Amino acid sequence: MKILLTGANGYIGRRLKEKLLGEDVSLRLLARNPKSMTSDIKAEVFQGDSFDVGSLERALEGIDIVYYLIHSLQEENYRELDKLSAHNFLNAAIKQGVKRIVYLGGLGVKEHASTHLVSRIETGEILSSKPLEIETLWIRAGVIIGSGSSSFEIIRHLTEKLPVMVTPKWVKTLAQPIGVDDVISYLVSAKDIVLVGNIIVDIGSEMMTYKEMMIGCAHALGLKRWIFPLPILTIKLSSHWLNFFTPVPYSVARSLIEGLSSEVIIQNDNAAKYFPSIAPESYESAVKQAILEMEKNQVFSRWSDAGGGKDALEKEFKNDTAEALFLDRQKCLLDGVSKEALYSVFCSIGGDEGWFGYSWLWEIRGTMDKMIGGAGLNRGRRDTYSLRVGESVDFWRVEDLKKNERLLLRAQMKVPGKAWLEFRIKEDEFIQTAYFYPKGLFGRFYWFLLAPIHYLVFQDMIRSIMIKAKKLDEL
Ligand SMILES: NC(=O)c1ccc[n+]([C@@H]2O[C@H](COP(=O)([O-])OP(=O)(O)OC[C@H]3O[C@@H](n4cnc5c(N)ncnc54)[C@H](OP(=O)(O)O)[C@@H]3O)[C@@H](O)[C@H]2O)c1
Repeated sequence: MKILLTGANGYIGRRLKEKLLGEDVSLRLLARNPKSMTSDIKAEVFQGDSFDVGSLERALEGIDIVYYLIHSLQEENYRELDKLSAHNFLNAAIKQGVKRIVYLGGLGVKEHASTHLVSRIETGEILSSKPLEIETLWIRAGVIIGSGSSSFEIIRHLTEKLPVMVTPKWVKTLAQPIGVDDVISYLVSAKDIVLVGNIIVDIGSEMMTYKEMMIGCAHALGLKRWIFPLPILTIKLSSHWLNFFTPVPYSVARSLIEGLSSEVIIQNDNAAKYFPSIAPESYESAVKQAILEMEKNQVFSRWSDAGGGKDALEKEFKNDTAEALFLDRQKCLLDGVSKEALYSVFCSIGGDEGWFGYSWLWEIRGTMDKMIGGAGLNRGRRDTYSLRVGESVDFWRVEDLKKNERLLLRAQMKVPGKAWLEFRIKEDEFIQTAYFYPKGLFGRFYWFLLAPIHYLVFQDMIRSIMIKAKKLDEL
């Protein structure tokens, strides 16, 4: 069986890929930025974009089953883009004789759904629109609970940070959450079940309100929390609230809050009928598993992993740092410090480890970023020590990674221009460079205004990295 997995560097895609690699199948991955997939030696990697029909047709050649895990939620006109993407995919799959599309969408009823959910439903409708030519197995999940999932991160951050919560009245809305491992089990089995035509399979575990989810999460964390739903809190206000208190940016918070107002309840019993061997674990058990993975630093994928593809392929980033007009470069000799120790220290940057000094300045920058709709510092990182190309580190994204040699971060904070931060080991030298390509006059003003702060922060940064690396060598 030859399988194409799309969205392979996304939250669900990364986990599904890992499971499929253990199955008796031949796996091909579709990624806009193939660099984010380089470590996958057991699968073919195809560069492609669902808006580039030629790349889709090449990727779908000889494929039996395709997993469709693509969405354009990060774009403003995502609804139109999602439709176009699904149409392109359906037509290319039919042309290449693909037998089945497996699509994971959202749970809910179209009439009461948020725009985000409507878009997910429309995608499913398009993918299922030619049943005589290709069969579509459309799996619909509501809130997915797992380490690194956006919904779980929101619930966890709110419960951990706020002993007393005033929430919108929608926390009383009913939902049927599901553990991420169960979602992956359904997806893996979806390639094998015998079908006649299309089916929609709604999946979820027990029915509960969002309030019960938060109380349940607090319980699993050993905390006691009080929640008071208030009818006066608007979608906008609540989204700002989530933006500040959780790692998700305003745009993601808003689409999630909009979704809270309508029930996300299973509408059919096809999960039990077609997948009798899968018994979804309880909410409590999924939460405990997610917490355990976080404590053990074993978060396999995060909601912020994806989104690196489009930027990475854009022409403006092709030249990398070479186009920067300004730079702050700090150098020092290795002076007996091993490359391995140095590499492992600078690759632990961000997240809980912080930015090697002047944490309060970084905090201020992060807060300012959140206030203007940026990613902010509290996005953190997936793993305390290891990094992957394409994943996020606070308000940066990993652009390049060469073992014991280089880490290049691209700024995703709101900044008037383009910025990178590079750590490089070159022969017996350690070089740290902040690059900046200013946009217009304001960009230039921004760079010169921050020059004294940069001087302090970056000098201190290279010094701290060297001290930490020396200590690591001495261990
Ligand atoms: N995560 C949840 O909590 C959840 C809950 C219910 C349902 N679902 C459904 O599960 C599916 C996957 O969600 P996810 O959370 O894994 O999403 P995700 O982490 O945001 O990943 C989306 C993937 O789509 C890729 N992509 C976007 N535009 C593309 C394009 N034009 N061409 C090719 N690839 C493109 C992205 O690649 P780049 O890195 O290149 O951007 C990324 O790999 C979605 O249909 C979603 O509705 C998810």
